[in-house]
Amino acid sequence: MAEQPVLSIRNLKTYFYLEEQIVKAVDGVSLDVYKGRITALVGGSGSGKSVMSLSIFNLVDQPGKIIGGEIWLNGVNLRTLSEKQLLKIRGKEIAMIFQDPTSSLNPVLKVKKHLAEVIRTHQKGIGKKEALRMFRDVLSRVGLKNTDQILESYPFELSGGMCQRVMVAMGLLAQAHVLIADEPTSSLDLTTQAAILEELTRLKKEGMAIVLITHDLGVVAQMADDVYVIKDGKIVDSGTVYQVFEAPKHDYTRSLLEAIF
Ligand SMILES: Nc1ncnc2c1ncn2[C@@H]1O[C@H](COP(=O)(O)OP(=O)(O)O)[C@@H](O)[C@H]1O
Ligand SMILES: [Mg+2]
Repeated sequence: MAEQPVLSIRNLKTYFYLEEQIVKAVDGVSLDVYKGRITALVGGSGSGKSVMSLSIFNLVDQPGKIIGGEIWLNGVNLRTLSEKQLLKIRGKEIAMIFQDPTSSLNPVLKVKKHLAEVIRTHQKGIGKKEALRMFRDVLSRVGLKNTDQILESYPFELSGGMCQRVMVAMGLLAQAHVLIADEPTSSLDLTTQAAILEELTRLKKEGMAIVLITHDLGVVAQMADDVYVIKDGKIVDSGTVYQVFEAPKHDYTRSLLEAIF
């Protein structure tokens, strides 16, 4: 591929220093993510997918620590930036949908405030009326009805699945260059799942680079262009979706494939 990757991760290591042992959750991961493509990071439970996405945003908490590697976003190594500089990039250039939406929304802010915050930092100069129209639009695009009621709700008044959809809506609104979606449909019903996957495909066609984190190879087959298979914090297989599905290099990929086909 001639084009430069938008996001390029090199030899990233994130370890958890527990009393009795060191858990090498991410252990030397390298991957490249391109504009207008969906890159899937697939692996079983506990393989390091969520720690990987949190690491990109430098949101790994104690006793976890990023101990090495580089995270290049459009030619800037995020690991060399201050927290203040990172704040400007998070949500704007690189948007995120976390696996646990209840903990990623602020409990004291209404949905409307969450969305307003996205616009405030990234699309200055939008009037109140226009903003409201945009909020209703993104909420209905992720399959939420009664949008006016939801705008006035606090996260605890919504179900986990609804919170997840609000996170997706925030990602859509941010119009980021890169979207990292950690199991974005895991707690949703099939219809909503399909709607969100369709949205991701639309964003990809608009040129967004998407990292789709999932344990579901069916979703990978349907959605992904490029695939990385992660096991015990290490990439064990990678390539285009055709390469990985047609000629899996690792037994682990084969076992994942056998489980669905
Ligand atoms: N806060 C934590 N403290 C200790 N170990 C953790 C913590 N968070 C994650 N881990 C460990 O890191 C590994 C990867 O976890 P995770 O990235 O959440 O997996 P998944 O692929 O299911 O998203 C697992 O072994 C998990 O137990
Ligand atoms: Mg996870």
